[in-house]
Amino acid sequence: MYLGIDVGTSSVKVIVMDKQGVIIESASEKYPLSFPKPLWSEQNPEDWWQGTADAIKKICTKNPGLGEQIEGISFSGQMHGLVILDEAGEVLRPSILWNDGRTQKQCDYLNDIIGRDKLSAYTGNIALSGFTGPKVMWVKENEPEIFDKIAHILLPKDYIRFRLTGEYKIDAADAAGTLFFDVKNKAWSKEMVDILSIKPEWLPEVYNCYEVTGIVQKDVADELGISDKAKVIGGGGDQAVGAVGTGTVASGVVSVALGTSGVVFASVDDYKVDKENRMHSFNHANGKFTQMGVMLSAAYSLQWWVEEVNKDIQAENPYKVLRDEAAKVPAGSEGLIFLPYLSGERTPHADVNATGVFIGLKPSHTRGHMTRAVMEGVGYGLRDSLEILKDMQIPIHEMRITGGGVRNELWVEILASIFNYELNIVEASEGPAYGASVLAAVGCGLFNSVEEACRELIKVSKIIKPCEEDAKVYDKYYQVFKKGYGQLKDIYKDLAEL
Ligand code: XUL
Repeated sequence: MYLGIDVGTSSVKVIVMDKQGVIIESASEKYPLSFPKPLWSEQNPEDWWQGTADAIKKICTKNPGLGEQIEGISFSGQMHGLVILDEAGEVLRPSILWNDGRTQKQCDYLNDIIGRDKLSAYTGNIALSGFTGPKVMWVKENEPEIFDKIAHILLPKDYIRFRLTGEYKIDAADAAGTLFFDVKNKAWSKEMVDILSIKPEWLPEVYNCYEVTGIVQKDVADELGISDKAKVIGGGGDQAVGAVGTGTVASGVVSVALGTSGVVFASVDDYKVDKENRMHSFNHANGKFTQMGVMLSAAYSLQWWVEEVNKDIQAENPYKVLRDEAAKVPAGSEGLIFLPYLSGERTPHADVNATGVFIGLKPSHTRGHMTRAVMEGVGYGLRDSLEILKDMQIPIHEMRITGGGVRNELWVEILASIFNYELNIVEASEGPAYGASVLAAVGCGLFNSVEEACRELIKVSKIIKPCEEDAKVYDKYYQVFKKGYGQLKDIYKDLAEL
C-alpha cells in the first residue's frame, strides 16, 4: 500500500493506493489561509502537519490493519512557499505562500539590477513574486531579527517530510521553483545562493522525486498508526506530481490543470528556456524537464463569478443555473471578452497589478453572456501558454485535462475549441495525491520508472473534441483578447497607485 499526501493551499488530501493502482481510502482536512495585509498570503506549517496527521489517523482508525501495510509515502505540495526553521527545527514565522505578492521590489532588484539574463543563466527562470528567492530577500530586509535565526529553508511538503522523518531533504521538481536552484544541473545555484545571502548549509539535500529520502520515525509512526518501516519518497511540487497523476510524462504530451490556478504543463526531454522566460523552466518528477505556464485565477474566476457576484441565486446548485444560461449563448459570447486577471497574472504577463475586466458589454448582454465570457476568458488565458509552447517548437501531440473545473463539461468543450485540440480526461480524479502515491510505488520498486508506472496505471476515460465552427470563432476572439492586457497595462499601474 502506498500513501499519497497532497499539501494543498486550502486543505491536505491523503489517499491510500494499492498495488493495482486502485485508491482504497482517502481523507482530507482543511486549514486556514490568512491574508494579514494586502497582497500577503500566509499559512502556519503546524496547521499542515496537524491536518496531515489527522487525515492519516482518520484513515488508519477507519481501516484497522491498513496502516501497518503502508510501504511507501510520498508527496505533492503547493510550490514556492518559504518555510524557515531555527537550529532546533522550530518554525520562525508563518510560511509566505506561492500566491503572495509582497515581493515586487525584490523582484525588480533581481530582474533589473542583477539582470534577467544572469538569473535565467543561473536558474532557467527570472524573478516572479510567487517564487521563494525574493521572499528570502524580503525577510532579510524586513525582519532581520528573524533572518539572523534561519538555520534551515524548506518548502511546504518538505516540512511534512521533516516531521515524518526528522530529515531536511527536498526533490528537484519543487526546488526548481525557488529561483535558487540550477534546473539544468539539478543542484542549488551557488551564484543565486550568494546573491540572496543564503548560507549553503541552510539548504536541504536534493533527491529525485522517485527516490527514497528516509524512513518514518518510530514515535511518529506509532502516533499515526502506520508502519515504522514505511519509506518516505521524494515527491514534488503539485504541478509536476499532478502531471504524473495524469500520465503527462512523455515528450509531446501537454496537460492543462483547471484548478484554482490554471496550468499548462508540457513534459520535455531536454532542458530548454524560452528567450523571454515567459514559461517556467522546471524539473519534472520523472527526472526530466518541463515547460509550464501558470494562470493565477482559472477555476477561481468562475468561483468568484458564481459564489461572490451571483451569491444571491436561490437554487440548490447555482453553478448549474449559470452554466445552463451560458450554454445557450453562442461561442464568443456575442462580442464579450473577459480578462481573467483577478489576482494579477503570472504567465505571460508577470504583473501583480493586472485585474479582471469585461470588454465589450452591451445592453443586449445577459448574465448568461457574462458567465460564458468568464469561462472563455480563462480559455484564452490558457491558450497564451499553448502559443508560447508552439513558439518554442515544443511538440503538442496529445492534450490531457484535470482539476476541479473538469466536472463542468461545457467548460471543457469551450476549452477544446479555444485550443483546437482534443482534450483527454483521465480516470483518476485525485490528480496530485494520486501522482504522489504513484511516486511512492516507484520509490518502493513496484515499477522500474515513473513512465512505466504511468503506462500501467493511468487510463483516459473520456475525450472531448473541439467544435470546428466554434474554433474558428474563438481564433478571431483570441486575437482581440491578446491585445487586451497591453492596452490596459498603464491603467492597471495607475489604479494600483491610487
Ligand atoms: C505553481 C504554483 C501553484 C502552486 C499552488 O508554480 O504556483 O500551482 O503550486 O498550487
